[in-house]
Amino acid sequence: MEGFTNNKQIPDVPTTNGTFSALESITSPMGHLPSSFIRTAIFIIFLLLTHRIIRYLTSELPPRGSNLKPLPGPLSTLPYIGRIHDVDRNHAWSALHKFSRQYNGLFSCTLGGETHIWVAREDVAQDLLCKNAAICSARADLGSYPGVTKGFKYLPLLGYTDAFLGQLGPSGPVMNLVPPLMHLPEWLVPGKREVRLRQEREAKLWEGLFDRSKDKYKKGGYPKTYVGASLESKDGSTEGKLLFENETEAKYAVGMLCTVGIFTIAGPAILFIMAMILHPEWQEKVRAQIDEVVGDEMIDLKHSPRLPILRAVIKECVRWKSTVPLGVPRLLSSDYTYDNYHFPAGAVVHVLDIALSQDPKRYQNPSTYDPDRWLNPTSRNFKAPLTEFPRLKGHHIFGRGKRACPGQDLAEAELFVFCGNLLKFFTLSPALDEKDEPIWPDPDKWTTNVIGGPLPFDCRIEVRDKKKLDMVEKMYSEAFEKNI
Ligand code: HEM
Repeated sequence: MEGFTNNKQIPDVPTTNGTFSALESITSPMGHLPSSFIRTAIFIIFLLLTHRIIRYLTSELPPRGSNLKPLPGPLSTLPYIGRIHDVDRNHAWSALHKFSRQYNGLFSCTLGGETHIWVAREDVAQDLLCKNAAICSARADLGSYPGVTKGFKYLPLLGYTDAFLGQLGPSGPVMNLVPPLMHLPEWLVPGKREVRLRQEREAKLWEGLFDRSKDKYKKGGYPKTYVGASLESKDGSTEGKLLFENETEAKYAVGMLCTVGIFTIAGPAILFIMAMILHPEWQEKVRAQIDEVVGDEMIDLKHSPRLPILRAVIKECVRWKSTVPLGVPRLLSSDYTYDNYHFPAGAVVHVLDIALSQDPKRYQNPSTYDPDRWLNPTSRNFKAPLTEFPRLKGHHIFGRGKRACPGQDLAEAELFVFCGNLLKFFTLSPALDEKDEPIWPDPDKWTTNVIGGPLPFDCRIEVRDKKKLDMVEKMYSEAFEKNI
C-alpha cells in the first residue's frame, strides 16, 4: 500500500462534496478502507491475473507439438507479480546479473505481468538483434512514459532527460514494474501524476530553448546549432527537404537529442574522474603522454592517433562499470526461436550489459580497472593498430543492430576532448577528512538510472601550474564574452 499513506502526495483528488473525505478514508489504515474500494481492487487483481494466465497459456508457452523449450529462468513466486521482490530497485542489475550467471546468460522472468527476456550471450544477442533485426527493433512502451513508443515526442529514443533517466527500467516508477497500473487514474497511482508534471516541465523547457535559439538564428551570426539546421531545412522546404514534419516535432526532436547527448556522457565523465582518483598511476601515464604529444595546445581530435593511453583509460571506465548495466529494452514483435528455445512475441528483450562487461571469458579479471587490457599485445582484448584502437565506438555498451546508439562518434569525441583536457590542466585527487586522510570514492555507489553513473562524491580538482591556470581563466572569460 506504499503511496497511499501520505495524502500530501495526491492533493488534487476530485471528490463529489468538495472535501477530501473519500481520500482520507483510503489513506487511513487498511481497516477503514471503504468496501467499494476493496471490491474494485479485488476485481482489478482478478482481471490482471486472468489476462496473465490466458496470455501465458496461449502465447508464451511453446506451441503444442513444436518440440520447443520454454526459456529457463526463475519461476514466478507470486502470481502476476513474478519476481519483483527479487529486484532491488536501487540495484536492479545485481539480481539480474545473479540470475544471468545462474542460467548461463539467457533467461526469462515475469515482472509485473510482463515477460522479460535477459540476454548475456553474444551469439543470441547477434542473432536476435542483428540477423533478426526486423522482429526485435521496436521499443517497449514504458509504464512511466505511456505512449513513448508512439508519436514523435520521444523520437530519438525513450527520452533521456535527467528525470526521464530515472524513469526507465525496473528501478524507475512502480508502473515500469507493473505496467497495467498506468491505466488506473492518477489519484490511485501517485507516480502517474509525477510523470505528467515532468512531461509538462520538459515541454516548457524545450519549447523555451527552441524559441530562444530561433530568435538567435533569425538575427544571424551565431554558430550552427541543431535548431538552426532544422530551420534552415524548413526555409529550403521548396526542395522538399524538411528535416522535421513541423515545428512541434522539431522542438521535441532537437530537445531530446540535446538532452540525450548531455546525460549519456555525464555518467562516463564522472566515472572517469572517479577512476583517475582511485588509480593515480594511470592519471600519471596519461598525462605524460599528453605532455609529450600535445605541448601547449588544447587537446583536440587531431591528437587522438597519438594518445592511445587516454583512449584506453576512457574505454576501460565503461567496461569496468557499465553505465547502461541493464541495456535499453526492445520489444519482440514476433515469436522467435534460438537453440530450440521459444521466445514469445510481446516479450521485452534486454541485453544485460553488466553481464557482458563482467564476463571473465571476455575480460580477464573483469572487476579490476585495468586499461592495460586494451594496450598490451598479450591481452585478449588488444587490437592493433594503437593509432586507431582502443576506441569506444562499437563497444557493446552502445547496443547493437538497427537501434544501436547513433551518438557513438559524438560520445567518443566528447569524452576524449573532455577527459584529456581535464588531465592536461588539472590533477584529480580524493577529498581529505579533518585528519587529512583521503576519503576514497566508492565505485559501488551508483544512481538507479538506466543510463547512469556514480553518485556524487567529494574530490579535489587542482590546476597543475600557473601557466595552465592563466590559460583556463582566459578560455573561461572568452566563453562568457561569446555567450557560448
Ligand atoms: C557514452 C555515452 C552513451 C551511451 C553509453 C549510449 C548508449 C545507448 C544505448 C545502449 C542505446 C540503445 C541501443 C539499443 O537499443 O541497442 C542508445 C540509443 C540511442 N542513443 Fe546513445 N549512448 C551514449 C551517447 C549518446 C549520445 C552522445 C547521443 C546523441 C547525440 C545518443 C543518442 C542516442 C539515440 C538517439 C538513441 C536511440 C537510437 C534508436 O532508438 O534508434 N547517445 N544509446
